[in-house]
Amino acid sequence: MSAQNRLLIKGGRVVNDDMMQDADVYIEDGIIKQIGLNLHTPGGTRVVEAKGHLVMPGGIDTHTHMQLPFMGTFAVDDFYTGTRAALAGGTTMIMDFALPHKGESLVEAYHRWRSWADPKVCCDYALHVGVTWWSDKVAGEMEELVEQHGINSFKMFLAYKDTWQLDDSELLESFKQCKELGALAQVHAENGDIIKENSKKLLSLGITGPEGHEMCRPEEVEAEATNRACVLANQVGCPLYVVHVMSKSAADIVSSMRKKGHVVFGEPIAASLGTDGTHHRHKCWRHAAGHVMGPPLRPDPQTPIYLMDLLANGDLQTTGTDNCTFSASQKALGKDDFTKIPNGVNGVEDRMSVIWEKGVVSGKMDPCRFVAVTSTNAAKIFNMYPKKGRIGVGSDADIVVWNPHATRTISAKTHYQAVDFNIFEGMEVHGIADYVICRGRVVVEEGDVRAVSGMGKFVPTPSHSPTVYGRVTERDIANAPRKVERPPYDGPVTQVNTQG
Ligand code: URP
Ligand code: ZN
Ligand code: ZN
Ligand code: ZN
Repeated sequence: MSAQNRLLIKGGRVVNDDMMQDADVYIEDGIIKQIGLNLHTPGGTRVVEAKGHLVMPGGIDTHTHMQLPFMGTFAVDDFYTGTRAALAGGTTMIMDFALPHKGESLVEAYHRWRSWADPKVCCDYALHVGVTWWSDKVAGEMEELVEQHGINSFKMFLAYKDTWQLDDSELLESFKQCKELGALAQVHAENGDIIKENSKKLLSLGITGPEGHEMCRPEEVEAEATNRACVLANQVGCPLYVVHVMSKSAADIVSSMRKKGHVVFGEPIAASLGTDGTHHRHKCWRHAAGHVMGPPLRPDPQTPIYLMDLLANGDLQTTGTDNCTFSASQKALGKDDFTKIPNGVNGVEDRMSVIWEKGVVSGKMDPCRFVAVTSTNAAKIFNMYPKKGRIGVGSDADIVVWNPHATRTISAKTHYQAVDFNIFEGMEVHGIADYVICRGRVVVEEGDVRAVSGMGKFVPTPSHSPTVYGRVTERDIANAPRKVERPPYDGPVTQVNTQG
């Protein structure tokens, strides 16, 4: 074995979601082999000094759209620039979405995304698959994806009328099939019919700028869809994961459904935790359009603080970014009509620092909870734990050596992403990934990113995640409908009056 494959992270404080300990971490061939003090390691082992630093599981971004074909163009960060930027910020795995057109084979879409991602990814990745139309064929393909292709989550859209939106009966069928397969149903929760109606009205009033994007889908449009999805999923006993929770009211619904015992998870994103929708009214069109995404950032500046509190206290569970970036000329497809502005913002590079700053530096969460919401909970929910999401013997050596005190100022001028805009521009954040180790390879070293395209691997996600389905079977048995045993009625029965 070459010395290159042996690495010792020395002198740091190891942080998992459930404990912290001062310990060294020894890695061989991409796997963590020993954790403790005074470890015996072979000569020639490379040493990374981590004194004064936290040694945490690499971040898992649960929600990205690299090079997504969308609204007449392709997201500018592809699987190379996007995953390289992810590593720079301490994220060692992304979860992207294969999204078929209506009528298109889900399996073909999956293979298309694999063919785009596999040669380019610098870090590991998994896929969710979109269910954008419904038929028996779709149900069969969902089964094939789960059984043969390592997919355990499907995203359904309650918005994007005419492209990806499902109606309620299709939604219900898709939830039933997810349940049948032990897969997790995800929803983009906004009411697409209302958005279409409101957009027409606003355009007819001459409101064509980016502010119209938020005005056509106020908070209750997200809340209604979130509530509807929770109710429909619960009625068929299907666990649910609400992606990109953007508003207080949607977050409250997820939280209150959990209190009622529904199996539902909520994912705020770096954007909704780190900035707000006041930017839609900025006088610079490009600045305002740079913040357009769906569901929109909310104009209430308290929203990020509120979402962070819910995330810190267990009402919300994971964090993604919905990273889906478009440069100025692409956003300009909607310069005269806000409905044509490609929806999407950045986040994959800055998520860890933004959550550290707004969550840990603010005193809302401790480092263990930070690890839970940036990595471990995702690994558990999507059934990759403890291979991912843990610094533990036998786990993949996806590790970030975090300098909690160093600061940096986020800017599009210095970021690694390909996009020419950053929604966190000018934000000073504590918390920098000094070293990032991906499957045992040092890929970031004091600001120098040495990622190689194709270095990442596809990570299959098995069905029936214990964190998601562990209580579902018992619950189905315990809550199964039971008839009332009683003697049959034996009195007279009126004749049916066919004239009536
Ligand atoms: O604005 C967004 N969210 N763009 C990406 C597509 C989606 O809905 O996640
Ligand atoms: Zn979405
Ligand atoms: Zn998305
Ligand atoms: Zn350092």
